Amino acid sequence: MRLQCIGTAAATGTHSVIFEHIASGGCQSYLLGCEETRAAALIDPEISQLERYLGLLAREGLQLRYLIDTHTHADHFSATAQLAQQLRLPVIMHRESPAPFVDMRVDDAEMIALGRLRLRVLHTPGHTRDSMCLAAADRVFTGDSLLIGATGRTDLPSGDPEALYDSLFGCLERLDGALKVYPAHEYKGRSHSTLAEEFAKNPRLQRRERADFVDMMRGLNLTMPTHITEALRVNMSGGKSVARLLSEAAARVPFMSLADLKSYIERASPQLLILDVREREAFERSHIPGAHLLPRGQLELRVNEELPDPTRRIVVYCELGQISTLAAATLRELGFKRAVALDGGMRAWEQAQFPTAAGSAKSV
Ligand SMILES: [Fe+2]
Repeated sequence: MRLQCIGTAAATGTHSVIFEHIASGGCQSYLLGCEETRAAALIDPEISQLERYLGLLAREGLQLRYLIDTHTHADHFSATAQLAQQLRLPVIMHRESPAPFVDMRVDDAEMIALGRLRLRVLHTPGHTRDSMCLAAADRVFTGDSLLIGATGRTDLPSGDPEALYDSLFGCLERLDGALKVYPAHEYKGRSHSTLAEEFAKNPRLQRRERADFVDMMRGLNLTMPTHITEALRVNMSGGKSVARLLSEAAARVPFMSLADLKSYIERASPQLLILDVREREAFERSHIPGAHLLPRGQLELRVNEELPDPTRRIVVYCELGQISTLAAATLRELGFKRAVALDGGMRAWEQAQFPTAAGSAKSV
């Protein structure tokens, strides 16, 4: 049997650990801190919980030192890159991680110092090539290498059932069975188990013959996670998800309600320029009365000729209310400080049965 790791884990004496378990759907992240020094690390933070992590750190009086991903996640958006940028903290991943934003690459049997605590790195490839487990005090954070009653899948990029077999039976099984298992995913609300329980009862770990285990993993035939392409792009590059791009734009622009726009139109307010940023065909089919057309794709190109007055009050709309937010944020960046986005799009306008017009566009 090839041994995948030489790390062993033991309780770190009597050091007290501060521990918070944060669940978001099936994604589990963990805040681990040294009680004596207040140094803390976040393990597998997920983007939707960002404010919650910051709240917990403040409540516990912890000083966050490290952001750690146990592997390249394919099914959710990691918060490490964003938190690292926001808080100026280092991101730790295994040296096999493809992400360019990793500050500290670690390898098997190395330790991460967290005040008086030590997090021991165990390289456990299989779910992904860069998968690692972290053993600290009486627990082991198993990422997606070992889940409660299951294992991580091996059919995503860089997955390898042979390597997972070695990681489970050549590495994790050699550790103290009393170690508590905290995985990166858990869908049934269980907080943890122990290594001994998993090796005794986890159905996948009862396949102790290599070929049997590998066949089982290859035959799982699982559906692909939603957003896999986007999650891998974001987690491997440190770039932004579309949702993050939209929420950052939404934080930079005010909105106007559909009803307020309707009453502006009824009052025939000449100060307000209504800008439709959809494509021409959609505009000609139906648009808000008095609107002018400037498709989002041509905004920067035509802004100088179409919108000569940067002090003009402009309300931007699109089909669903998302592209218009981006367009309004762009206009603000360009100096149109009175650009606002319609809260809702043409579809909501029509559903509200507000007046519409059809036909060709007039120039601004
Ligand atoms: Fe994963």
